[in-house]
Amino acid sequence: MTDSQGNVEGAKTPMELYKRLNEQGDKVRCLKTAKADKADLEAAVQLLLKLKTDYKQMTGQDYKAGCPPPENMVVSNNEPATDGADDEDTVDPWNVSTTNAKGVDYDKLIVRFGSSKIEKELVDRIEKVSGQKPHRFLRRGIFFSHRDMHQVLDAYEKGKSFYLYTGRGPSSEAMHVGHLIPFIFTKWLQDVFDIPLVIQLTDDEKYLWKDLTLEECRRFAVENARDIVACGFDINKTFIFSDLDYMGSSSEFYRNVVKVQKHVTFNQVKGIFGFTDSDCIGKISFPAIQAAPSFSNSFPQIFGGRKDVQCLIPCAIDQDPYFRMTRDVAPRIGHLKPALLHSTFFPALQGAQTKMSASDMNSSIFLTDTPKQIKNKINKHAFSGGKDTVEEHRKYGGNPDVDVSFMYLTFFLEDDEQLEKIRQDYTSGALLTGELKKILIETLQPMIAQHQERRRQVTDEIVRQFMTPRPLNFSL
Ligand code: TRP
Repeated sequence: MTDSQGNVEGAKTPMELYKRLNEQGDKVRCLKTAKADKADLEAAVQLLLKLKTDYKQMTGQDYKAGCPPPENMVVSNNEPATDGADDEDTVDPWNVSTTNAKGVDYDKLIVRFGSSKIEKELVDRIEKVSGQKPHRFLRRGIFFSHRDMHQVLDAYEKGKSFYLYTGRGPSSEAMHVGHLIPFIFTKWLQDVFDIPLVIQLTDDEKYLWKDLTLEECRRFAVENARDIVACGFDINKTFIFSDLDYMGSSSEFYRNVVKVQKHVTFNQVKGIFGFTDSDCIGKISFPAIQAAPSFSNSFPQIFGGRKDVQCLIPCAIDQDPYFRMTRDVAPRIGHLKPALLHSTFFPALQGAQTKMSASDMNSSIFLTDTPKQIKNKINKHAFSGGKDTVEEHRKYGGNPDVDVSFMYLTFFLEDDEQLEKIRQDYTSGALLTGELKKILIETLQPMIAQHQERRRQVTDEIVRQFMTPRPLNFSL
């Protein structure tokens, strides 16, 4: 159906592609009504998404059934939608980069990774099932992709609950605002579904990958746990663990690690993670350790040995390779596949070509920054989609799609109407870059000050409690 470059055969004009999309949409609907084989349905949905991506690339517009493209539409680039390695975005657990100032093309990533897009329908369902207004990250497509979320909701509606699993690699003491995204969202999920949560701190991973000692990694894990606790997790429903501590103390956890290790070959992890012959064997076997918390019997103190509690993992999309591997082995070792919710990346101050990185001081706003530092960094470094002079800006307006300050507001400004007004005013030129930055500064300063205050209240004893293996309080 697609040629070697992944392009859909035949469709040379927007109209042809539009017709193909209509047909494919019908096909998906038929398969759904006919309750067709899951693999067939999935393949049809993937093709539909691929067509949508091609359509957007060709026309610059989203495909909408019933809205054909104008017959005389000028196609900006008549070349087939290139999917070649050269301009492909890099997204793996260690690197994120693109040449596009708007950031990574997430629709393409969905096709490449074979996950599913979080459509409005799913957001509405989450609202219905949880009885809560969807989190702004869902309303705004910041969590944009998923695996098996419908199944999780089907079961939940029938009274079968699930648990959450997320994590962090503690590579330094310094956490930045981007690191909070999965945790803010996970806290919301924990609250609205009232479910237990396990948080893995992969101090072992950072020891293997970075030039750090075991003691440093272990210490960073505890320091990071303090920031994580400050996000407001329920102490009665949350277990935070350092791999270095928990792996050695839980035979059930280790058993699952070994089972995964036995069922994944070197060839497979080479394919998924790009390991080479000169990578140390610790790296090669590490993915099994990130997989193990997806299985409920890795935590007998919480789930009493049950292996049938469904797991849902909220994470940034770069972690997906770990969980593709996990989902692949799970049925072969008698476990359920974990479901996933994927987020986009939090852009660096300098622009969405790369994500915020703690190792670049100027690309990041840290959770320890003072109000003054926040202000200076944003004013000095936040990439602007505004024009060079006030006159030009007033005349032509700014581009919110590449403007980092505007992007940050989509993550943190709660009020949808206010955000939309800012977008319109910036686009029209009524709002200047300096004014936009001021709104962002005034949004982030209190948010970070509050985080610092909550962190101060997290005592050593509280961290110790969160990190102690113990029963949690919930009903499944
Ligand atoms: N590898 C992740 C990191 O470096 C940490 C991690 C472990 C994780 N388990 C996870 C992240 C589950 C998300 C979900 O940050």
